[in-house]
Amino acid sequence: MINELKNEIEHAKTAFIKEVGEVRSQEDFRNLKEKYTSRKKGILTGFLQRLKDVPQPDKPFAGNAVNQLKVLVETGLNETETRLAALKATKETETDPTLPPFVYPVGRVHLLSAIRKRAEDIFIGMGYEVTHGYEVELEDNNFTALNVPEYHPSRDEQDTFFIKDFPGYLLRTHTSPVQIRYMKQHKPPLKIISPGKVFRKDDPDATHSPVFHQVEGLLVDKNIHFSHLKGTLELFIKAFFGENINARLRPSYFPFTEPSAEVDISCFMCFGKNPVCKLCKGTGWIEILGCGMVHPKVLLNCGIDPEAYSGFAFGMGIERIALLKYEVSDMRMMYDNDLRFNCQFG
Ligand code: DAH
Repeated sequence: MINELKNEIEHAKTAFIKEVGEVRSQEDFRNLKEKYTSRKKGILTGFLQRLKDVPQPDKPFAGNAVNQLKVLVETGLNETETRLAALKATKETETDPTLPPFVYPVGRVHLLSAIRKRAEDIFIGMGYEVTHGYEVELEDNNFTALNVPEYHPSRDEQDTFFIKDFPGYLLRTHTSPVQIRYMKQHKPPLKIISPGKVFRKDDPDATHSPVFHQVEGLLVDKNIHFSHLKGTLELFIKAFFGENINARLRPSYFPFTEPSAEVDISCFMCFGKNPVCKLCKGTGWIEILGCGMVHPKVLLNCGIDPEAYSGFAFGMGIERIALLKYEVSDMRMMYDNDLRFNCQFG
């Protein structure tokens, strides 16, 4: 009987060693554990129960053999449990090079930012400094110091956002007050451009928005003439719109410049050849900015002697340039954040 038991135990050992080596999953593990150690039908449990029927003289030998199986099963199960846990951990962290890549969508620079940046780059190339003012401005900087008279229609409540409860403050209607701030704080020579948001009480439509963007330019130094203004703007226009584009100046009026002019560029759509061109309306010219020689009163208002210094200034609308250069049919598209529009530029 003892030999029989011994043989069975040896068989069980061999079988367990084989089976434990084949465990690949938690389920295999659970099944194996159950097979050898379950209370009712476990193989090891069976041997342990049979020990009490072994006759006294064979007991120590039988006990030893069953114990060897017990140690084998217990260590085998423990090691397998550890091996499965390690396997699970590596599986979770392992990168699988065969998986399709996750492509992060790449954004584009917004059309308005791209135009601002391009204009900045051109002027930086001419030695200008980029400065910023404030969107909430003093009425004085926005109008009075710029020589805009009290009765001027732009100062009307219908056109300007005044700030309730803060008399004397408004949302700037143009970037020109940056000139005032800069001239009050710096001594000539001055050479700046200043891009930013401006605000006017306009109802939104295809060509109007209560918030839009401008770029302001200012140069003050000794012996600055109208020809410097013309040359600078021609250089900018050719760099921005193309070498084949010409500029012309038309007399105009702004309270803060004297003389003042408006600048037109030759129509890049029809080059003056289409009498029904929708861009230039057959004139061959498109208006793009306002400019002039800084009014002596404006220099004086900022503590600069107009006898010693002179300067020029200009201002242009970024949206207007976008509408013209990229034939955008409705200004509101620039604020809608529709990627189908935004991703066409930049
Ligand atoms: N501030 C003017 C406007 O908003 C644009 C402008 C015209 C700016 C002439 C200037 C300038 O600096 O000299 O329409």
